Amino acid sequence: MNIAIVGAGGAVGREIIDVLEGGSLPVDNLRLFGSARSAGTFLPFRGQNIVIEELTRESSFAGVDYALVSAGASVSRDFADVITRHGTVMVDNSSAFRMDADVPLVVPEINGDDALGAPRRIIANPNCTTIQMVVALNPLHRISPVRRVHVSTYQAASGAGSRAMDELVQQHADISAGKTPVVERFAHQLAYNVIPHIDVFTDNGYTREEMKMYHETKKIMHAPDIEVSATCVRVPVMRAHSEAIWVETECPISVDEARKAFAAAPGVVLVDDPAALAYPMPLKAAGSDPVYVGRVRRDLAGPGLSFWTVSDQLRKGAALNAVQIVQYIAAHS
Ligand SMILES: NC(=O)c1ccc[n+]([C@@H]2O[C@H](COP(=O)([O-])OP(=O)(O)OC[C@H]3O[C@@H](n4cnc5c(N)ncnc54)[C@H](OP(=O)(O)O)[C@@H]3O)[C@@H](O)[C@H]2O)c1
Repeated sequence: MNIAIVGAGGAVGREIIDVLEGGSLPVDNLRLFGSARSAGTFLPFRGQNIVIEELTRESSFAGVDYALVSAGASVSRDFADVITRHGTVMVDNSSAFRMDADVPLVVPEINGDDALGAPRRIIANPNCTTIQMVVALNPLHRISPVRRVHVSTYQAASGAGSRAMDELVQQHADISAGKTPVVERFAHQLAYNVIPHIDVFTDNGYTREEMKMYHETKKIMHAPDIEVSATCVRVPVMRAHSEAIWVETECPISVDEARKAFAAAPGVVLVDDPAALAYPMPLKAAGSDPVYVGRVRRDLAGPGLSFWTVSDQLRKGAALNAVQIVQYIAAHS
């Protein structure tokens, strides 16, 4: 299998390399692409140093089976034709094509078949917050259809890319040294703070990040009736997003039924033993693959369930899900 990674030097790109190092795909040849900024530098893969090529309109993807693209929405829009021109399938981590009717939006545990025969040879990877939420909702949805969801997210700095991670580290260092921290990547200082604002605000008062959770959930789960109200918050955590979720299903699901369904669901690990202080936390989830679920309880204020999820958004929320899409297509074609 010949693979290309576009945005290879970024937070998601490096994570894709790490997932591939684990041997999840039979990679014969790996090509790496970036902007002029990183072109000519090298990244290690399976004992070799691979050069980062500059992505240009003249780049040829001939012979590349799959391109895993994580260089931002404008790069995806501008270069989709270059990437797919010779038959390459593009798995895109950006928001550029997610809601296009002829571009499947795929989480393999839920709607893997949608990835087969993509008409434009483009398959979109959902937003990281949506992926971890739908992986956790799906086992409940199989018992009784999900109707309404309220979710508050606690999103790590790495969700905004590698330079955002650097900024959080630098802010802590500057504050410790008595200096005024530099704020560039976020709307406000993130160190010692939380910021209830991710992506731009839309006319209805929700942010675009929150509206991604609203629209993408319906598309992935093939369930236009599911209503999602999200509040997305940036927290000074380095890796792994957390989400507090309240869910109402058509028929009530007991806590025991829910726990059993979570424990049996692909991609989910149940960590739910409050007496032993066992519940998912980002510090423990960082660098690992599953969506962790815990704090499962009957909601006191309505007819639903409340629970807590944590997942490393650079893994299942981006790199791992993209690689799993390729695995799914390869296994079914
Ligand atoms: N971070 C997450 O948790 C996460 C999760 C899901 C989806 N995503 C999405 O994945 C994409 C990348 O995010 P990230 O967090 O990895 O960002 P990042 O750390 O800022 O990395 C961006 C990468 O894109 C490359 N790039 C920028 N302009 C380019 C161009 N014109 N041509 C080729 N490469 C170019 C950069 O290369 P240079 O260094 O050479 O400039 C860099 O490697 C975004 O669309 C983001 O929304 C991110």
